[in-house]
Amino acid sequence: MINPIGPVVPPGRMKQTRQPDIALSGGMHLRPWRESDAQVLVQSCIDPDIQHWNRPDRLTTDTAREKIARWKLRWQNEEAALWAIAPADDDVPVGLIGLADLDLRGGSGEFVYWLLPAGRGRGAMVNATLAVSQWAFDTLGLHRLRITHSVANTASCRVATQAGFRLEGTMRSALLHSDGWHDEHLHARIRDDTGPS
Ligand SMILES: CC(C)(COP(=O)(O)OP(=O)(O)OC[C@H]1O[C@@H](n2cnc3c(N)ncnc32)[C@H](O)[C@@H]1OP(=O)(O)O)[C@@H](O)C(=O)NCCC(=O)NCCS
Repeated sequence: MINPIGPVVPPGRMKQTRQPDIALSGGMHLRPWRESDAQVLVQSCIDPDIQHWNRPDRLTTDTAREKIARWKLRWQNEEAALWAIAPADDDVPVGLIGLADLDLRGGSGEFVYWLLPAGRGRGAMVNATLAVSQWAFDTLGLHRLRITHSVANTASCRVATQAGFRLEGTMRSALLHSDGWHDEHLHARIRDDTGPS
């Protein structure tokens, strides 16, 4: 039987375009990860805050390179869109942002992000979240974007709220961290929401 409700985003729209560079205010930009950034990923996995909140696996330079290569494939397969956040001058990444769990048919995606200490404290993640949201709604055509984070992660909660992601509720005992199960906030922004842009 033919499904009368078509996909929100037609298949192929993402893979037919090159992943864009996106300028941010404050001298930063978003760009695709390169295999030469592998050492930054290795560093991210040993940063105590990223380790605690994002729970990445430990990486070597080789496995980090492989991960970056897989991210390129995930763009091609329309499964995820991940950018490096880097200062425009030296172009060495200080963070990661993107949408994982992309569901083009259903029109949604979930943010993943982190900053190394060198990138924190300047509002870079709020700017990056706004920029990726604009790309996701206006260029890709998604309908709903989510941010989830441990209720104990105040900085992430502030980023979500300042980027216009309304708090929709608390998911009980939703994610296992090194110190036990954490409740998680669910924030979301809908294409037609009014708010920061
Ligand atoms: C979460 C993260 C991206 C926020 O970026 P940041 O550059 O540190 O945040 P900013 O300095 O722009 O601050 C954003 C807000 O969070 C608050 N904040 C920042 N660090 C905080 C902390 N440790 N505790 C409480 N609030 C904090 C700031 O005061 C600011 O709120 P305000 O505008 O109301 O004053 C970054 O801290 C990070 O990557 N942390 C480690 C990993 C992580 O938490 N990943 C997210 C998993 S969901």
